[in-house]
Amino acid sequence: MTNHLKQDQPDRDNVLDTMRQGVLGKPLARIDGLAKVTGTAPYAAEYKRENCAEGVLVTATTACGEVTGIDASSVLAMPGVLAVIDDPRLTTRAAQGTAAEAPEQGPTKVGYWGQPIALVVAETFEQARDAAKQLKVEYRAEEGVALDPDSVEPEEMESSGASQGDLDHAMAEAAHSVDVEFTTQGHASAAMEPHAAIAEWDGDRVTVHASLQMLNYNIAELADALAIEEDKVRLLSPYVGGGFGSKLGVSQDVVAAAIAARQLGRPVRVVMSRQHVFQTVMRRSESRQRLRLASDDAGKLSGFGHAALVSNLPGESFAEPVLQSSHFLYGAPNRELSLEMARIHRMTAGSVRAPGEAIGMPTLEAAMDELAEKTGVDPVELRLRNIPERDPEEDLPFSSHKLAECLKQGAQAFGWDSGPRQPRTRCEGEWWYGTGMASAARVHNSGEARARVTLEADGSALVETDMTDIGTGTYTILAQLAGEMLGLPLDKVLVRLGDTQFPRGPGSGGSWGAASIGSAVYLACQGLRQSLAERAGLEDDALVLKDGQVVDGAPITDLLGGDSLSCEGHYEPGKVASDYTVSGFGAFFAEVRVNRFTGETRVVRMTGAFGFGRVLNAKTARSQCLGGVTWSIGTALTEALHFDPVDGHLVNCDLAEYHVPVNRDVPDVDIIMVEERDPAASPIQAKGIGELGMCGGAAAIANAIYNASGARLYEYPMTPDRVLAAMPQGS
Ligand code: MOS
Repeated sequence: MTNHLKQDQPDRDNVLDTMRQGVLGKPLARIDGLAKVTGTAPYAAEYKRENCAEGVLVTATTACGEVTGIDASSVLAMPGVLAVIDDPRLTTRAAQGTAAEAPEQGPTKVGYWGQPIALVVAETFEQARDAAKQLKVEYRAEEGVALDPDSVEPEEMESSGASQGDLDHAMAEAAHSVDVEFTTQGHASAAMEPHAAIAEWDGDRVTVHASLQMLNYNIAELADALAIEEDKVRLLSPYVGGGFGSKLGVSQDVVAAAIAARQLGRPVRVVMSRQHVFQTVMRRSESRQRLRLASDDAGKLSGFGHAALVSNLPGESFAEPVLQSSHFLYGAPNRELSLEMARIHRMTAGSVRAPGEAIGMPTLEAAMDELAEKTGVDPVELRLRNIPERDPEEDLPFSSHKLAECLKQGAQAFGWDSGPRQPRTRCEGEWWYGTGMASAARVHNSGEARARVTLEADGSALVETDMTDIGTGTYTILAQLAGEMLGLPLDKVLVRLGDTQFPRGPGSGGSWGAASIGSAVYLACQGLRQSLAERAGLEDDALVLKDGQVVDGAPITDLLGGDSLSCEGHYEPGKVASDYTVSGFGAFFAEVRVNRFTGETRVVRMTGAFGFGRVLNAKTARSQCLGGVTWSIGTALTEALHFDPVDGHLVNCDLAEYHVPVNRDVPDVDIIMVEERDPAASPIQAKGIGELGMCGGAAAIANAIYNASGARLYEYPMTPDRVLAAMPQGS
């Protein structure tokens, strides 16, 4: 049995709100939590395989050129060394769910420092690592290649732009205007679990345990790289220690392990070191952004301009979508948005934690703070005055829109003072104290998804899909959805994920996971309910299930009559996706202190209020928001990739030198989840939440730095040296 829905219409029925089990939305602990904290949930590198050899990648030490020689004999006599695999397919890049074509024949071209060029395989990891370090490689390095975005002529990414009215005129005529340029530095996804794969062949079939976000795409990427059919590939990723975009595409460890295992005729494991992960897999592009805002005396925008320059390798299609929410966040009749791309030789730029808004919102919202200052309008009120009725560029309705509620509820919870704002009004000891706020926005994405739900003869339920749980709570919310729909307590629902032998899910990325795969599970359960209703002699909507039983009727096991019953739910986003602008919204409020003498910023407290449709689990959703706010602290204050200007190598490639916020950097964070149902976002009325929590939060901190210390900064991250340099004299 299958139940398919292509969603062309908003679903205003909210069937889930009529269910009686009472598990959906509840702040329940993760059902996989115990396995994870006790170390019994296996991660990619931890599967035990007999006779498994160990592979270590050798990576390029030039940013651009060609490998002219790999001298395998330089290491083959070393203890335990089994093979040096010098195969151009090792350069396969699949950053975004599409594999870049790798040449079949050498010589291996090098496009960035840290690109894999060979794999050394040995009996033990230490032997392989030692040999990989000593392998003699010769290059023909290209001279004078572009290593930074300022050294090339950028190309226009036309599909990302928009132009309406006359922005120059609006700027010239405006009562108040802001015209500012910001820079942001590159980011690393910095997932906890390094990329790793174990590959094993059985005849012409390969099974790979790996750490991946989107098995539904990754299977085709790997099959393409190996030039075999997809049905000869099985991928397993039941537990993933974070991805943050870096595991959207199949990474080089996966391809390398599969090639090596075939050549050696035994299982091969390839684990990337932390340095490999930083240098090899993925970066967020740095950016230069110009913001232009024109308003009347009351702060109502008449003009809105956002132009951004980002970078990627030559030939890569991904461009950090910096303007994504700028297209619809605020109304203004005169608009100019443009995105430019510089082709440079740094590793592949791809999706990293909220691609686009993660760096587009912090600059826009800092510019809005300047407009608030110039107009004398309270920053919260300024946002409220500029919320558009409809998408200002597409002239589409919003599916649902909670920005105003988030601004108001957040301001109240934070204790926002809407009185006049002067920088440097509060000093205690060495520290200036101040507050700031910003809006949050993140587009909602959804993807085709399939899941099978089986009611077993014993009355328990089994949910199966190749969907991943990358630490977000997928196992738990799917159990809650199935439990709610089928009237089962959570301990009667088993969820199995991350195996390409199950029906294809949407993968975890772009915050589309929960709403998309949740809808597939919902549809599967809807199919099962129809069958149960029929068996019970009831109309569909007269069937009330709770605790394994038809309320005032038979146990579900009686209706099953000793058999199991299965339904595959198949969800496809339909016309709703183009009939509405669908986005999550929110608001951030921050209090910071800035050291008068060192420029150090500490975040004292933060409040985030978010509207993202139906909350599927109040605990895991809150955790997602907390994670997002944590990343926004990193964006504001510490996270930056540093590239060597001479040879282009990434300088800070571990968690000691690349600074993600740690416990001491993250204060009490108050999260408010604003009640919302979004009928166009998905049949379960849920939107994405994973990334919204970091889309704009950095500006709340930047604006608080200004309010505290009088330092207006135009560079993220706002490190102590930069804050100090921007502070007015006489501190
Ligand atoms: Mo996300 S950065 O699309 O995993």
